[in-house]
Amino acid sequence: RIVASSDVEQSYIMIKPDGVQRGLVGEIISRFEKKGFVLKGLKLFQCAKDLAQEHYKDLKDKPFFPKLIDYITSGPVVCMAWEGDGVVASARKLIGATNPLQAEPGTIRGDLAVQTGRNVVHGSDSPDNGKREIALWFKESELCQWEPVQTPWLI
Ligand code: TYD
Repeated sequence: RIVASSDVEQSYIMIKPDGVQRGLVGEIISRFEKKGFVLKGLKLFQCAKDLAQEHYKDLKDKPFFPKLIDYITSGPVVCMAWEGDGVVASARKLIGATNPLQAEPGTIRGDLAVQTGRNVVHGSDSPDNGKREIALWFKESELCQWEPVQTPWLI
């Protein structure tokens, strides 16, 4: 099965530079892993401005856009491709509201962050954007086409 034309839903999840700096990488990855989604791509990456601008292009007219680009490019990020039915909406729930002070306890932002401009993690907002963002951040060769051993305890 070719990953790029996969009909299984995929979400691009990214641990932002503050999450890496604060040593939260393992904690954040484990929440998606324990939930039961399948990790198809994973890398530590220092991104250039033009990639950050393309990723957030829908926000380019917002007043906070320049600061957002400075923040995302300020240090390495952890790029992840996660797959599974309903992964986009479920990941958004695991992540919590954009403003961490409004994010519910139990969510990543609700538990680990206080500022909108330092909200530790990104998650795609639609399945189409999931595919678009994974194609933007990963080369085809960086994505693994593995399937986990089927377990009757999960599905
Ligand atoms: P957005 O796509 O609205 O939120 P989310 O990350 O929850 O999908 O915004 C993208 C990022 O832009 C957000 O995670 C943090 C930053 N941002 C600000 O810095 N200030 C703001 O007022 C907003 C709305 C977002």
